[in-house]
Amino acid sequence: MKILAIESSCDETSAAVIEDGCRQLSNVVASQIKSHKRFGGVVPEIASRHHVEFITLVIEEALQRAQCTLKEIDAVAVTEGPGLVGALLIGVSAAKAIAYAAGLPLIPVNHIAGHIYAANLNDTLEFPLLALVVSGGHTELVYMKESGSYEIIGETRDDAVGEAYDKIGRVIGVPYPGGKHIDEMAHHGKDRYNFPRAMIKEDHYDFSFSGLKSAFINKVHNAQQRDEVLDSNDLAASFQAAAVDVLIDKTIRAAKEYPVKQVVLAGGVAANSALRNELAKAVEHELPNVRLIVPPLSLTGDNAAMIGAAAYIAYTRGERAELDLNAKPGLSL
Ligand code: KG4
Ligand code: ZN
Repeated sequence: MKILAIESSCDETSAAVIEDGCRQLSNVVASQIKSHKRFGGVVPEIASRHHVEFITLVIEEALQRAQCTLKEIDAVAVTEGPGLVGALLIGVSAAKAIAYAAGLPLIPVNHIAGHIYAANLNDTLEFPLLALVVSGGHTELVYMKESGSYEIIGETRDDAVGEAYDKIGRVIGVPYPGGKHIDEMAHHGKDRYNFPRAMIKEDHYDFSFSGLKSAFINKVHNAQQRDEVLDSNDLAASFQAAAVDVLIDKTIRAAKEYPVKQVVLAGGVAANSALRNELAKAVEHELPNVRLIVPPLSLTGDNAAMIGAAAYIAYTRGERAELDLNAKPGLSL
């Protein structure tokens, strides 16, 4: 079964053709990062304009690379939310137009479910599992008793971890999005500033990253006022150590409490080298019967292949949308 999948929830315009939920026949991603860089973050209006400009080209290229025409496609899938409303609407409108014109079923997909099912493209998910979803907009621990069932057992109470990375990146002077740059700098520095590990000892699985972000910003501002020079690499290493410690501590504790077979790392921040390495060590030492699944770097950020993978599961469960499908910016799992 071939699904044409479309993703446009934030700043990547993407289309993919996925076979049987696990084989990528194509995955075309047009990134807009260059256009948003000079503003230090995603500008929703600019994102929508880019999506309008590129969506048709990206879909045509995805079909071409997969060497198929719409006649060989069995269903159209699209991210319905969460995300930027204007950005989502472009993908939703394109998907509806194709579904109508080609007489294909339309499958609505939750963006977060997409991030989790990205792991199915290179591996096989086994349930029950625990997913740590970390991105620019989300930080969630999701317990999945079976395929297609989602229970959020913990989430951030303020900033998403990727958002905190990007905000401190701006303070330290690296280009948007800062996560990747901070990750690289952290390798050359030491964890010497002892930033707070918020709620690490508390008896729940929620996160908070705004205190860490403020501690970082205060440290930099206080030093500037005293004309002190702080080592940027040490600042990056200290921030990264604090963020990663909390994510791993809570993930391991949750995986001990819930009867899981796998822990799945998902979302843009799953590209973080410290998170990948330290989580692998922690799972190996503390959860001998649990397998860690980490997607390849190409599937950590936003892309339509992951939407196609999640759509296949939704399709087998009978989930369909009608042509009145709308964008749902605040959609939860
Ligand atoms: O999943 P994603 O592409 O978009 C959202 O759905 O939000 O995630 C983007 C986020 C950005 O905040 C970016 O800074 C972060 O992922 N990111 C990283 C790394 N690579 C990307 N954060 C930390 N370390 C990285 N290596
Ligand atoms: Zn995302």
